[in-house]
Amino acid sequence: MSQANSEFLVAPSILSADFARLKEEVLAVVEAGADWIHVDVMDGHFVPNLTIGAPVVKALRPITSVPLDVHLMIENPDRFLEAFAKAGSDYITVHVEACPDPLATVREIHRLGKKAGMSLRPRTSIESLWPVLGELDLVLIMTVEPGFGGQSFMLDQVDKIRQVRKKAKELRHELLIEVDGGVNAETVGHLGEADVLVAGSYVFKSDYREAIQTLKRAPKLRESND
Ligand code: DX5
Ligand code: ZN
Repeated sequence: MSQANSEFLVAPSILSADFARLKEEVLAVVEAGADWIHVDVMDGHFVPNLTIGAPVVKALRPITSVPLDVHLMIENPDRFLEAFAKAGSDYITVHVEACPDPLATVREIHRLGKKAGMSLRPRTSIESLWPVLGELDLVLIMTVEPGFGGQSFMLDQVDKIRQVRKKAKELRHELLIEVDGGVNAETVGHLGEADVLVAGSYVFKSDYREAIQTLKRAPKLRESND
């Protein structure tokens, strides 16, 4: 893997930022070492919360060159893929439970020229990703129930990282594994096999640089022949 022995990529979730100062918040975390910016989009339907949409991605696009990592927690995301692509998303991640035809959705994201990610709720079996895994750029493992920041980390989800890694290896397919929910200085100790760490409350409720650097430098585990 190209990520072997490197640091984690850290993607602060702006869900925990001060929305009244969103530009300064994004610039501050980028300055503090953020690799990506994670944008949580919720529709009040797939999850019981409502957040932001493509206009906010469009507004953020010119202020930073770091990848915008858009996590769509919305029912039938196909309706909005073009809007999020045009707004300047780099990664577009959808939920397998929300897609009538997950493979068609992944292909549409690629047709729009974007990296495609697939996520799943904690209660969803990891096998639900196998039919699309070979075409994904990213798998987003949820370690909280999607919908809100600041929840407790679900340790029982960690094994999904290993299962995705194993399956991707069998398929000889390279992808990034991202973990989202309750990630902090303690829980990162369980995430050595991941590539990208999303962190909302941990970053925005502490010293940005210290939090981001702590995550980036946490120990990664990799097989030497990866
Ligand atoms: C939850 C979102 C997360 C959330 C993470 O539905 O997908 O990205 O912002 O927040 P923390 O890091 O506070 O758990
Ligand atoms: Zn998220």
